[in-house]
Amino acid sequence: KFETPHVFVVFGASGDLAKKKIFPTLWWLFRDHLLPNNTMFVGYARSNMTIEQLRASFEKNCKVRDEEKSLFEEFIKKCSYIQGQYDKAAGFVALKTFIDEFQKVSNNQPVNRLYYLAVPPSVFEAISTQLAANNKDNGDSWTRLIIEKPFGYDLDSSTKLSKHLSSLFKEDQIYRIDHYLGKEMVQNLMVLRFGNRILGPSWNRDNIASVMISFKEDFGTMGRGGYFDKSGIIRDVMQNHLMQILTLVAMEKPASLKAEDIRDEKVKVLKAIRPIELKDIVVGQYVANPEMNDTDAKLSYLDDEGVPKDSVTPTYALGVFNVHNERWEGVPFFLRCGKALNERKAEVRIQFKEVNGDIYPPGDLKRSELVMRVQPNEAVYMKIMTKRPGMGFGVEETELDLTYNNRYKDVRLPDAYERLLLEVFMGSQINFVRTDELEYAWKIITPILKELEEKKVKPVQYKFGSRGPTEADELMKKHGFVFTGTYKWTAPFEN
Ligand code: BG6
Repeated sequence: KFETPHVFVVFGASGDLAKKKIFPTLWWLFRDHLLPNNTMFVGYARSNMTIEQLRASFEKNCKVRDEEKSLFEEFIKKCSYIQGQYDKAAGFVALKTFIDEFQKVSNNQPVNRLYYLAVPPSVFEAISTQLAANNKDNGDSWTRLIIEKPFGYDLDSSTKLSKHLSSLFKEDQIYRIDHYLGKEMVQNLMVLRFGNRILGPSWNRDNIASVMISFKEDFGTMGRGGYFDKSGIIRDVMQNHLMQILTLVAMEKPASLKAEDIRDEKVKVLKAIRPIELKDIVVGQYVANPEMNDTDAKLSYLDDEGVPKDSVTPTYALGVFNVHNERWEGVPFFLRCGKALNERKAEVRIQFKEVNGDIYPPGDLKRSELVMRVQPNEAVYMKIMTKRPGMGFGVEETELDLTYNNRYKDVRLPDAYERLLLEVFMGSQINFVRTDELEYAWKIITPILKELEEKKVKPVQYKFGSRGPTEADELMKKHGFVFTGTYKWTAPFEN
């Protein structure tokens, strides 16, 4: 008996994303026996390429270990390449022939289809049109379309793309990737919130002073500037990754773990956020830091190839958002993202209010914080007050710490893409962005983007390798964020 055949087609097979991420991810899933046995992988692109050339393009990114070499050959045997245009039927007809043949040799069982668009958005419409015309299933198997941002440039262009997709595919066939939703700690947010009685009752405006969702990178745009300049950090990171995390932190408990119930709750949060204004945002752009011993730091953003010399595109942004509902009114959500900063780190930091009726010497008690560190070195820790250990009577800040590589030593945390691609095979849309979610996220962000761009607001300069503009710290302080600088998380001892 043949197992159900599946075909995974990568459009843009000769591109960067395919080489660096998609083919390697497919290999890791194949290697770990997580995919259906009877699965074929097809690369599709405009260039004339042999399968050997395709293989050579991604092999080194697959990090194949010696003992996996023969398994890797098996994987390659399951890979094919089809050359074709994105806007002409011929290549798609060739793909149809390929799938029909595959069905024949699979005991005539209908083939499930996964189409991954690892291509620039300018060809999204052409490819999806051709796929809908030539390569859909006949109703006796399924078809799923996977796409990557940018999903438009603003509300209008995103709506246009969504309308186009919805005219060809049903919502349950569309998988919009936001790879932050595949990260361990982001997926953990719901379990922490809804799986612990201790957190639920304090998860509101009565107890929480602020929420900070922060994304920092310690490298600049490094030659990608020309591409980056068209989007900027707000489109690149805030509108998608950070906004997604915000909805998971703020949403009400869904009726069930079904994708639609979860996504309904996320949409409700987005609907309750009003667009922000210039007073609610600080934008920055990095400049060279000649003191740093790093060749990249010698370049300002404006020196990067392809970046116009008068560009006002932000490489840093801090926005203060409010969720206008009963749970969150008045609690600032700080979304902060930036390139070329002092460290690489992404985290969610819930800062709690002071205790009522403080009996300790004024200023001794500091605010408790719950931190979920998304990367690097995944951890959940609670910064709390404790009695200073030993003979003292005083109090001090310490932590309840769950550092993953200490507690779960032998567990490999899969890459976000591995998990998400597997979820597409499984038909789980929990961690993919629904059309209305995307629309509401754009509704929040588009007005401020327009205003920044129309007024050509000059970003504040910050030095490569710094903490970013000090104006951002001031804005957070103004909204009640307390930073004492008295505590630093220390990695637990290995034992
Ligand atoms: C991408 C952005 O979506 O996320 C990049 O386009 C950014 O600019 C990247 O570097 C960060 O992803 P990760 O998984 O390395 O944190």
